[in-house]
Amino acid sequence: MNPMLEFARKKFSGKKVLAVLSSKGGVGKSTLASLLALSLSEMGSVALLDLDIYGNSVTKLFGMQNKLHKVSKEGIEPFKLKKLSIFSINGLIGDRYLILPGSQERSVVESFMALSNVEEDTVIIDMPPGMGEELLTLTRIVKPEAIVVTLASKLSIDVVRKMLEYLKESSIRTRYFIVNMAYILSGDRKIYPFGSVEEAENLSKLYNLKLKVLPMDPEISKFIGQLQYYDGILKKEIKELECLFSDLKK
Ligand SMILES: Nc1ncnc2c1ncn2[C@@H]1O[C@H](COP(=O)(O)OP(=O)(O)OP(=O)(O)O)[C@@H](O)[C@H]1O
Ligand SMILES: [Mg+2]
Repeated sequence: MNPMLEFARKKFSGKKVLAVLSSKGGVGKSTLASLLALSLSEMGSVALLDLDIYGNSVTKLFGMQNKLHKVSKEGIEPFKLKKLSIFSINGLIGDRYLILPGSQERSVVESFMALSNVEEDTVIIDMPPGMGEELLTLTRIVKPEAIVVTLASKLSIDVVRKMLEYLKESSIRTRYFIVNMAYILSGDRKIYPFGSVEEAENLSKLYNLKLKVLPMDPEISKFIGQLQYYDGILKKEIKELECLFSDLKK
């Protein structure tokens, strides 16, 4: 009997949990998880949980890295951005590094999920890269649905292919397969910095996944720290995803 695990399971039971995943790092998970959560929160209440305990980025994207969560015996209170509730380890330890023995990772994730006051029915989770303890722990707590992010590069596709296989074998539904930063618009022309998206298309067919190809938007770098004010092309593209996510609100 593990009380934190049981408590976390109870807390997330019945919620729609969407984990933004990739076995590759730096592909845009945190950016897309945050934009998706922001977008969904324009329609209803949504929670965004940062489970990247070592490389937490969510609070930095919103310029909240110096804020601390209110914590009491009632639990951890979120940072609020209108209807979006944000939870991050960063909000517990401050803007400093965290280093943990591997054996502790599981209990940190379990306790963080158990004690966060997540009231919302829809929860977006920003995951660290790879398939480590955070992912294992998450799947012990709740059965998430996945949004898998890749670059178009052959290297990224080859690494992410294994994650798709793992998700399939674990009966975790992949809602979307996203090729992020796939092209840059130059006038009417699209330039593909990481090569053709053909391999990603083939993979999406093989695993029967909805594919979304997202552009690179150099403007987004100006919004790191104030992503809530970004209204560029990525936000618009994500809003299209959101329609496909409409059943999440049910
Ligand atoms: N579509 C995009 N257009 C332009 N820049 C982007 C786009 N998506 C992400 N980026 C940039 O790429 C960098 C990596 O993004 P991000 O931190 O979201 O990736 P990540 O997958 O969460 O990384 P990690 O694996 O370290 O958690 C950031 O500087 C972000 O601003
Ligand atoms: Mg990240």
